[in-house]
Amino acid sequence: MLKEQIEKTKTLNELQELYTNTFGKNGTMTVRLKEMKNLNNDARTELNRENTELRELFRNRQSELENEALNAALAGEKLDVSLNAEPENRGTIHPLTQSLSEISAILESFGYRRYTGPEIEDDWHNFTALNTPSYHPARDMQDTFFLLNGNVLRTQTSAIQIRAMESDGVPIKMFAIGSTYRREMDATHGPMFGQIEGLYIDKNVTLADLIGDIRAFFKKFFKLDNVELRIRPSYFPFTDPSIEVDMKWNGERWLEMMGAGMVHPNVLRNCGIDPNEYQGFAFGFGWDRLAMLKYNLPDLRDLYGNDVRWLKSCGF
Ligand code: DAH
Repeated sequence: MLKEQIEKTKTLNELQELYTNTFGKNGTMTVRLKEMKNLNNDARTELNRENTELRELFRNRQSELENEALNAALAGEKLDVSLNAEPENRGTIHPLTQSLSEISAILESFGYRRYTGPEIEDDWHNFTALNTPSYHPARDMQDTFFLLNGNVLRTQTSAIQIRAMESDGVPIKMFAIGSTYRREMDATHGPMFGQIEGLYIDKNVTLADLIGDIRAFFKKFFKLDNVELRIRPSYFPFTDPSIEVDMKWNGERWLEMMGAGMVHPNVLRNCGIDPNEYQGFAFGFGWDRLAMLKYNLPDLRDLYGNDVRWLKSCGF
């Protein structure tokens, strides 16, 4: 009778109630067990057996009901993955971000360490320490955005060379990638563009080391077996001698790739370094330019257009 009742319970609450009626303080079994001392041996054995059996039945029914409850809960939470979801408008990796990680990986493998610097820069780091004092005509080479407090929007990542030498001294082998700003705007120039800067100062660094690193860099970045370079004399206030490096593109035309040179002794002195003991090279080139060449992107403005359709067409 009780056995059947246990089997018929439908919920854990019902089972709990039945259990209390049976084994609770005044439960039917509790009362009978209390009277056990008045029973003969056989009746005692029988009652013990019944007691054990009932307890086991309760336990079994409890785990059955718990399982049922769990299964019901799981069934209720089931997701129908075959339902059509709202299409998600996903972005992709931007070509500049993609090239940033490739460029960093290559330069790091050559032993250059990456530094960063602020985009709002003071006059010292952007110009004066780079051997371009306020009266210097070379300031006109870069049409600068000035802030009211005399700071500028960084016109060149060369400012980060100064910060790196000031904070870590020499020997140093560093690079930086970042946005730079100038007041110019046409099909091939925007007011914001990216630059990559490199600097290597030690006791015996020469221009030949620079050319070797540049060639190795272009080989790796553009995945070329051979790279033909052309070195032309140039002028930058912070290097002497200064050069410009061109690269033969598709075996047909020369592309102007970068400015570079041996770091000017005044720049080293401005960072507290003795130019008679240490020397080295610096280089700077266009980050956007590199990305456009590598991924075959025709228009610089696309890079800053925030057009997801265009980004998707780049396929990263
Ligand atoms: N800062 C220069 C520019 O913006 C590029 C450059 C030229 C950087 C020569 C250098 C360098 O470090 O040595 O035009």
